[in-house]
Amino acid sequence: MTELPVLDTQVGYVNEDIDPTLDLYDEIERLKKEKNAIILAHYYQEADIQDIADYIGDSLGLSRKAAETDADIIVFAGVHFMAETAIIVNPDKTVLLPDLNAGCSLADSCPPDQFKAFVESHPDHTVVSYINCSAAVKALSDIICTSSNAEHIIRQIPEDKPIIFAPDQNLGRYLIKQTGRDMLLWEGVCIVHEVFSEQKLVQLKMRHPEAEVLAHPECEEAVLRHADFIGSTTGILRYATESSTETFIVATEGGILHQMEKQNPTKTFIAAPPDNGCACNECPHMRLNTIEKLYLCLKHEQPQITMDEELRKKALVPIERMLEMSAAIK
Ligand code: 13P
Ligand code: SF4
Repeated sequence: MTELPVLDTQVGYVNEDIDPTLDLYDEIERLKKEKNAIILAHYYQEADIQDIADYIGDSLGLSRKAAETDADIIVFAGVHFMAETAIIVNPDKTVLLPDLNAGCSLADSCPPDQFKAFVESHPDHTVVSYINCSAAVKALSDIICTSSNAEHIIRQIPEDKPIIFAPDQNLGRYLIKQTGRDMLLWEGVCIVHEVFSEQKLVQLKMRHPEAEVLAHPECEEAVLRHADFIGSTTGILRYATESSTETFIVATEGGILHQMEKQNPTKTFIAAPPDNGCACNECPHMRLNTIEKLYLCLKHEQPQITMDEELRKKALVPIERMLEMSAAIK
């Protein structure tokens, strides 16, 4: 048996020189067939990764796909909590993440020990956690949700039941507004969605009065109040495709513009402006994955996501509740 190369956990991937004459697309296709692997990618991945993926989706779609696949290997082109979710729902598969350091500011904003103390100090509350959290936080939760099913799930919780919502306070505030439920919020934020500037968005709208504004609910209320449509990445893409409008201002991570333009070649998509001149509407975690690292992870079957079985079983319960409670959501 050939030995697996040692993974440098600080670097986050097997750092090996790649033959520059190699056609990475062909090699990835070949390895996929040879190893019976599937590539699942989030819309925030770079265009090359989206183009080679077998499935591109939002967090709910990706969780469903990870649960139902019969591939032996799942290459998860997304961030750590997404790959963790894949192993939680499908423990017999090998789950690979191109760069092990691809984390998430929202997940990091909710340390499990602090969250445990918070939950224990409100024992009568139902704990609903956004899927952007660690497996340990999922294990402390009653129900998981994503941006596409959160409102639908909150509305199913009995009116007299108090709710804790974690870790995204912007999504939490949006849900309070939508459902009228008074929820206790964990104060986490996504570093990408909080940088959009309301002032610059208003100026952009004045320059493009015909445009519709599409926003992700992780954005701050000051940005959301200017939106014509608020939804998950899949929801935003679907809305833009079905709408008769020709121009859209998009307030979410810039990677989604690739699919929006691909599916709607005659329409115009303008990225909502961040607070300064930086490219900070790109998620620094998502963008750690590259087509080169994807090739290397499939070749070496490293880095693999592993999980303690007791933790996995605990984290599975609220994910299964989510999948059952949102079975009707497309
Ligand atoms: P969705 O794709 O589920 O809308 O989530 C966006 C996100 O921030 C993923 O990290
Ligand atoms: Fe996390 Fe925000 Fe990046 Fe999504 S975009 S992975 S919520 S930091």
